[in-house]
Amino acid sequence: MTSGHFPIIRMRRNRYDAWTRRLVAENRLSVDDLIWPVFIIEGSNIVTEVGAMPGVYRVTLDRLAAHVAPVVALGVPAIALFPATPSELKDAEGTESGNPQNLICRATRLLKQEFPHVGLVGDVALDPYTDHGHDGVIRGDYVANDETLSVLTRQSVNQADAGIDIIAPSDMMDGRVAAIRGALDAAGHSHVRIRSYAAKYASAFYGPFREAVGSGSALKGDKKTYQMDPANSDEAMREVALDLAEGADMVMVKPGMPYLDIVRRVHERFGVPTFAYQVSGEYAMIMAAGRNGWLDQERAMMESLLAFKRAGAAGVLTYFAPAAAKILRGS
Ligand code: PBG
Repeated sequence: MTSGHFPIIRMRRNRYDAWTRRLVAENRLSVDDLIWPVFIIEGSNIVTEVGAMPGVYRVTLDRLAAHVAPVVALGVPAIALFPATPSELKDAEGTESGNPQNLICRATRLLKQEFPHVGLVGDVALDPYTDHGHDGVIRGDYVANDETLSVLTRQSVNQADAGIDIIAPSDMMDGRVAAIRGALDAAGHSHVRIRSYAAKYASAFYGPFREAVGSGSALKGDKKTYQMDPANSDEAMREVALDLAEGADMVMVKPGMPYLDIVRRVHERFGVPTFAYQVSGEYAMIMAAGRNGWLDQERAMMESLLAFKRAGAAGVLTYFAPAAAKILRGS
């Protein structure tokens, strides 16, 4: 640490001009830090915008390759797939999640063929598949932990069989990482990674996402018996420690911006690849303010993404991935 006082010390010297600022910059965002969440729907020749997420689309599989090609060309390393399941395929047990012909599996096979070098992330949780909108199965009026695990393991193996590279359990059931790791290994998928949503909070910021995948209107009640209380931070450390002990290769904090303190603590304490999910509501806020002329959308976007790096994130899941990658590539 330097010591000294003004006027010998002038902090502004290192901010004097652009090249100095570039030289002393401590953190930098790169295209390699971005994971792009993509919404897929059944049908043909449909590209529809998500209501509260201007610039974010739900696309049918025949349009998927064209939709992602420009983003792949910019070098975004990985895509996270989020299916909207038609309501007639939903049931109380989330059965469709284990169907090898379900939407995410077909999308995975298609993308692996078109873009073999792009990482594919599969969200694992039952909410896109249950008619009650919860991430697990319900026994009595409780989202049952242990009964849900067997459905999640089937879902995980099903996705891995289709070619998913990273299984991302977002369900917050206890013991799911160990169960999924065991099932993947038994099925010959020892190389498939697990990036757990280790600290996932019961958040209002998921609203636009639930509209996009059609789980919001179905949802009865809330998710507070399994997703974390926004009041808690020490609890997140326990969640991360458990997921790592159970075999998680990477961990995630979600939402992102309101939880940067958690990202920082996880990164410092565990020193493992820590990701943040800049969720749908965070995207919606920046876009809405930008569209109203209340702030500079592009600058707010880049600043928010850099903030994740500063907090210690290895990377960010963000709906801004295409726009940010364009800027980072200078195109
Ligand atoms: C599913 C899931 C959710 C999100 C990602 N996976 C919603 C939820 O838990 O209700 C939210 C992502 C976003 O808001 O962008 N379990």
